[in-house]
Amino acid sequence: MIASQDYFPLLKRKIKDIIDFNSEFYEDKHLRRRVAIRMRALDIASYREYLRILERDRDERIKLSKVLTVNVTEFFRNPETFEVIRRDVLPELIKLKLNNSSRVLRLWSAGCADGKEPYSLAMLIKDVLNERDDFMVKIMATDIDIDSLEKARLGIYHKDELRGIRKDYLKKYFERTGDGYRVKRELRDMVTFERRDLISDRKYRVMDIILCRNVIIYFSKELKEKLFMDFYDSLNTGGFLILGKTENLSGPARKKFVVYNNVERIYKKM
Ligand SMILES: C[S@@+](CC[C@H](N)C(=O)[O-])C[C@H]1O[C@@H](n2cnc3c(N)ncnc32)[C@H](O)[C@@H]1O
Repeated sequence: MIASQDYFPLLKRKIKDIIDFNSEFYEDKHLRRRVAIRMRALDIASYREYLRILERDRDERIKLSKVLTVNVTEFFRNPETFEVIRRDVLPELIKLKLNNSSRVLRLWSAGCADGKEPYSLAMLIKDVLNERDDFMVKIMATDIDIDSLEKARLGIYHKDELRGIRKDYLKKYFERTGDGYRVKRELRDMVTFERRDLISDRKYRVMDIILCRNVIIYFSKELKEKLFMDFYDSLNTGGFLILGKTENLSGPARKKFVVYNNVERIYKKM
């Protein structure tokens, strides 16, 4: 008979087979924590029992899948959005800064998961600034999940996680380590990771760009509307709020921002 603690590896394999989730790319610690959320909800104490339920209950498979994918992210996720940032948003901001005799760019990746979004931004900015070294760039990256932030700070990714990164960026901004790659220090130094709950923690000020994509989908309507107003207060005049394809600006903030790019849901503070 298998001891109860030995059921976790089996459960991990089953998660891959029956809910088509790439569990092998996730730390056991992270998976255990997520599975525990569902086990608590069902008042179940053993992986063995949970596995049985998972095998026979389609609803539970859907619920677990939701809990597991909540941190999913990619480098340059939705590349069209990043293309608009590269082509339109950043050049416009840089022009504004030059007119105002400012050389500081401040960005915030709100709900940054394991860092792929803020590091993607850092690569783009380097590209657009094109060797200019008179700008100070500061990217704040926040999340509530401490495991994700730990990984983000380390900046080490398995090679399978690097899909979406252009070859020249990979060569320029990553170095090999073990069976993965590490973000180079020059990029890591541009990003500060902090644990912050978007719902209850203090917001930053004087930001030029806020990205908040695929984060607030489970938030209530009222909370979203309050958060959009908080983001408005966080931005400098001429700054951009980027919500990505899963979200629409709603509530009083609609009257405060102008729509800059309707497809990519990019809004500008006038
Ligand atoms: C699906 S990921 C999105 C990552 C990235 N923004 C992207 O689009 O690829 C959602 C992230 O939001 C974080 N999150 C959820 N609720 C949050 C909250 N109240 N405050 C801060 N972060 C939160 C989760 O921990 C998760 O890492």
